[in-house]
Amino acid sequence: MSRRDIAWYENDMFKSLYIKAGSNAFRGYHSPIISPKTTFVGTNSLNDFINHISAYLSDDERRVLIVVDKDLRKLGERVAKRMDQRGINSRFYDNVLPDAPKNTILEGAKICEEYDPKIILAVGGGSAMDTAKLILLFYEKPEININNMSAPYYAGLRKKVKILAAIPTTSGTGAETTFIAVVTDTDRDPPKKTEVVLYEFCPDFVVLHPDFVKTMPPGLTMGTGMDALAHAMGSYMLTMSTLFTDMHNLKAIEIILDYLPRSVKRGNDMEAREKMQMAAYIAGIGFGNISGGIEHSLGHSFGALFHVHHGICVGVFLSASIAFQAKVTNRFYELAKLFKIDVENRLRDEILKDLLAELRKFMSNINCPLSISEIESPKVSKEEYIAQLDQMVDFAFNDYCTLSSTRKISELQYRKILEIAYENKLEDLMNLFYS
Ligand SMILES: [Fe+2]
Repeated sequence: MSRRDIAWYENDMFKSLYIKAGSNAFRGYHSPIISPKTTFVGTNSLNDFINHISAYLSDDERRVLIVVDKDLRKLGERVAKRMDQRGINSRFYDNVLPDAPKNTILEGAKICEEYDPKIILAVGGGSAMDTAKLILLFYEKPEININNMSAPYYAGLRKKVKILAAIPTTSGTGAETTFIAVVTDTDRDPPKKTEVVLYEFCPDFVVLHPDFVKTMPPGLTMGTGMDALAHAMGSYMLTMSTLFTDMHNLKAIEIILDYLPRSVKRGNDMEAREKMQMAAYIAGIGFGNISGGIEHSLGHSFGALFHVHHGICVGVFLSASIAFQAKVTNRFYELAKLFKIDVENRLRDEILKDLLAELRKFMSNINCPLSISEIESPKVSKEEYIAQLDQMVDFAFNDYCTLSSTRKISELQYRKILEIAYENKLEDLMNLFYS
């Protein structure tokens, strides 16, 4: 495979320098704060958003491309109808697929060439929002090679499209606030999830309307909520964290611990739904302004091969991520406090053990699998899992999030974590801390 075919962060020299420097490599050197310009919140948020863009667009610019997956087309049509009442025309791109395969993105960019939208609006979950970001990129920069976009990268977008906007229909991915888009690079064999990092991917406008998340079934509520928890806890463990990211991540965890179980158990609990919508957004700003942790490297790699929901993938690896890094940082003390664990005058390993036990109790309470063997949909046999170990190690080691690990991680250590994850026993997780 040539250098042109791999992402910039897979380059051996870059990776080894970055990993050697630990997660402090760029701390303080390059850390702008990126977030959406305006976020409309609550039951009038859709009206507010449409009024805003109606005033913003001139008469010859009133065209919006709505990026939505087929199952959510009705929600997209509801938005289109409201915009139509304000003289804003819309067209749909509804071939959004899980994990945003690159070949589907190019179809969306083609529609833009013909339609010339001034707004690209995603209505959906992480894949719809990532697809919208990538359509914007490939429409405005058709020749770009995503593998060469080493962060910080400036593509100079919004020369054709004025606004990127998002209405999330799940509460967890944080894609409505982040400047990362995950694309499945279908030019590679096997196709690999590639993170494209570009500040210009952060949506300008976000609509957090409770109606758009109230019909999420319990399984999706749990999966996306676990993703939000993994964002906040995983990135809090990184020593490259900042005051800004800490305050977002810690608050998000507090809200999720209180309201995710309620959202999963009673879908019509609108207070819990609204709190989770905000927690996912806050966690998105927290982790989005640093990085996900190694639970995301591992979750991406396992998910790419076994097609398990992203939130479950990162949830299963979250304990290992914390235990592995706890060896070199005390940041888990703050996480333990949020789980109401006493940290005064106690041994570090006792605190960690209690934290992992409480996290697992929380996950069980919302019906989240604790290990690969507990995943029901789809079932992953031990034989299939072991057969893919080499590939998973390779994917995880070459994941963007590997660069930010607080504790330097090798391919061998990734293998160890993946091996124990099939059963994910507490004593094996604790061994990651001791070894
Ligand atoms: Fe995630």
